[in-house]
Amino acid sequence: MPDRKPFALANWKMAMTLDETRAFVARFLPLVADLAGRVDVVVCPPCTALRTLAEALRDTWVEVGVQNVHPGPDPAFTGEISPALAADAGARWALIGHWERRRHFGEDEAFLKAKVRAALEAGLRPILLVGEPRDVSPPNADALDAYLSQVLAGCTPTDVARMAFVYEPEGAIGRDEPLSPDRVGEGCRLVRAWLAARFGTVAARVPIIYGGSVTPEHAADLLRHPEVDGLGAGRRGRDPVAFAAIVRQIATLATQRGG
Ligand code: PGA
Repeated sequence: MPDRKPFALANWKMAMTLDETRAFVARFLPLVADLAGRVDVVVCPPCTALRTLAEALRDTWVEVGVQNVHPGPDPAFTGEISPALAADAGARWALIGHWERRRHFGEDEAFLKAKVRAALEAGLRPILLVGEPRDVSPPNADALDAYLSQVLAGCTPTDVARMAFVYEPEGAIGRDEPLSPDRVGEGCRLVRAWLAARFGTVAARVPIIYGGSVTPEHAADLLRHPEVDGLGAGRRGRDPVAFAAIVRQIATLATQRGG
């Protein structure tokens, strides 16, 4: 994996108070201090904790992401957060396309495309979630093609170079165990193949990670596949010890693969 750094993601979803946020950082940072420069780590708190997390992580190598943005640009969207406001609160990245938003809030590909554009224009780096719906067995190249070709329509290779991708089928979320390493590797491979066909050589430089019921116990198996650049954790991403264990395994990726 010579052209890209391993990547770790925590999505806290609708959890973590301000006190819990500060406690997480105090526990997590020392556990990963020796991994600086070997792995990119992005933590996505609820909006209420964005500023607190950004301040707790100031002058560290761990970055902050927002879990959702609204493309606006009109401010008349009560309750929503624009990319510019998220950036002002300390976010550098934005999750776009999580299944919980697609399923519960009816977000379609055209809306996700607008979010990608708005995030890029505000200087946020999109983390695009990609994966088959619950009723389609993963991996499925047609489903990925239908989604990516709509959401990334109008993007340039320069835009894509600023992004990261999470292969996360809907059915992989909230289970006891992740998908099998073979399915995970094939899913990430299909996403990269699609990006390469559409955007060329930049595809070799963007991180593509797997998300969905990741645990420290499963991480090593999931990371063995050369197409998997890292992992994203929901529940385990809120536990500083579990997430640090996942990050440590991700950071050793390049070495394990002789990169
Ligand atoms: P989980 O969540 O790890 O709790 O399954 C993953 C996600 O939805 O990103």
